Amino acid sequence: MTRRPTDLPAMIRRALAAQAELGVGEMVLSVRKAPEPRAAAELVARSARVVGVQQAMADQERSGPLQNSLDIAIQPQYPSLEAHREAICTCQRCPLGKTRNKFVYGVGSPTSEIMFVGEAPGAEEDRLGEPFVGRAGQLLDRILAAMGLTRSQVYIANVLKCRPPENRDPAPDEMEQCFPHLREQVRILKPKIICALGRIAAQAMLRTSAPLGKLRGQWHTYENTPMMVTYHPAALLRFPQYKKETWEDMQRLMARYQQMK
Ligand code: URA
Repeated sequence: MTRRPTDLPAMIRRALAAQAELGVGEMVLSVRKAPEPRAAAELVARSARVVGVQQAMADQERSGPLQNSLDIAIQPQYPSLEAHREAICTCQRCPLGKTRNKFVYGVGSPTSEIMFVGEAPGAEEDRLGEPFVGRAGQLLDRILAAMGLTRSQVYIANVLKCRPPENRDPAPDEMEQCFPHLREQVRILKPKIICALGRIAAQAMLRTSAPLGKLRGQWHTYENTPMMVTYHPAALLRFPQYKKETWEDMQRLMARYQQMK
C-alpha cells in the first residue's frame, strides 16, 4: 500500500488520538511503515502448483475431511484465501450454520504479514459478513491506528465463522468443527506474526485452558509462527484500565515484527 505524503498529517493525527485513548503518556510520533505485500510472483507460483487439484479439494470439502490410518483428519488445502472462502462459505459442520445470517470469513490484505484472531462474529458482523465491525471492531481499528496501521494492512479473522446466538461463548463442538477453517487461513496467509485477541482465541490456538492472565503479554508459538496474546477489544470496552497493557503488548508485537525485517 502506497501512502501519499498528503495523507501523513491525518494519519499522524489519528495515530496520536488513538495512542492518547490507549493511555500513552508520551506521544509516539513515528508512524510505522506499512507491511510490504508479499511478492505477487510467490502467490502466482503457489497457485500454479495447485491448479488442477482445486476441483478435487472442493469435492473433498463437500464430503468432509478424509481420515488416514492414524485417524487424523486430512483437510483439503487451498491455493488462496478467496478459493478457501468460496469452498467453505456454505459450511454446515455445526448448528450455527442454520442460525447465521452471514458467514464471516475474514478481512484484510491477503498478503499481510500480521494476523489478528478474535473469537466469533457478533450481531453487526453477522449482519455485514465482516469481522470486527461493531463497537469492539471500532476500538480494534483505533488500536491499529495507534500502531500506524489500518485494517486493510493486516488480516483479521475469528475462531468461529458464524455467530453464536445471543453472543454466548462458542461451544467446544463448534470450536472443534470450525477450527480447521482458521488453521487453513493461517496456512494460506503464512503471517509472520499472529495476535490472539482474548481468552477464547488464545486458548483455542494454544490448546490450553490457562487463563488469559497467564497467557497475555507473552510470546507463544502457533504452528511455528510467533503469537502474542492480548485482551479482546470487547473486554477493553468494559475495562478501559486494561488499555495500557494492551498498548504494551502491541508495542512488543511491532518491535518483534520490525526485528524480523
Ligand atoms: N468479537 C470478535 O471476537 N470477533 C468479531 O468479529 C467481533 C467481535
